[in-house]
Amino acid sequence: MHLSKEQLDTYERDGFLVVPELFSARETGAMKADLERIQKIDTDHLVREKNGGIAKTIYRVHEADGPTASPVFHAAARSPRLLEPAQELLGDEALYVYHTKCNLKTAIDGSVWAWHQDFGSWKRDGVPDPTLTTALVMLDEPTEFNGCLYFIPGSHKEGNVESRFDDATGYKFWVVPKERLLEIMARSPEPVPITGKPGTVVFFHPNILHASGHNLSPQNRWAIYVVYNPVVNRPRDVPNPRPDYVRSTNFAPLVVGTDDILGAPAAAAEVSA
Ligand code: SIN
Ligand code: MN
Repeated sequence: MHLSKEQLDTYERDGFLVVPELFSARETGAMKADLERIQKIDTDHLVREKNGGIAKTIYRVHEADGPTASPVFHAAARSPRLLEPAQELLGDEALYVYHTKCNLKTAIDGSVWAWHQDFGSWKRDGVPDPTLTTALVMLDEPTEFNGCLYFIPGSHKEGNVESRFDDATGYKFWVVPKERLLEIMARSPEPVPITGKPGTVVFFHPNILHASGHNLSPQNRWAIYVVYNPVVNRPRDVPNPRPDYVRSTNFAPLVVGTDDILGAPAAAAEVSA
């Protein structure tokens, strides 16, 4: 799937691009069915909410092996609908998946993600340049009530700002300090709620400032994030690198696959179940 000049310009200007309903209800249904299965697995590839119980984040669903492997996500990450736009946005055909992350922001319990830039973590992984792009696929319909993401348009142009390590949520990561945030917000457009129908895809820049609130609603807000990185921008050596499920060491360039992502036998079985 190819992006228009206008879409490329929007991404460059705002730091994100929304493509409505790129995946069908049948496809997102298959993805959710597979996450229902995976969330019960006992593995370190899965981070649970701080209260211990339900899954908050599941990593590494895009590979053919490992405890969280999923045929439908393996196919989706290589599908022309995600991989080709990522190649165009980055101006590079040789991409690999830096990581996949499924955020299961579950009804009532799903918790906050503080304001941050993803590259704040990834530069500490040894990634040289902020030339990655993330494809977010909405699996439910995110709303302001159920804890949708907010982006500050154009904030990717701030570069990567100094961050501090935060372990207040189940997932410990690098967040932007309040003083800096207030300063940036005072001169930026209003944050935009990222809402849409299931199957909508949002491509976004690794330096865009984003956050999401608690899910107060009775509906789940599940989403998957596929992060693409050019092979040439793979992380350099760092002391104590994070595990492979969050900082992949599979640098083989992805080959564009098929848009028939339910063709894989395991995925097809889940849909008919
Ligand atoms: C993230 O920024 O990594 C996750 C935010 C969300 O899913 O709400
Ligand atoms: Mn993020």
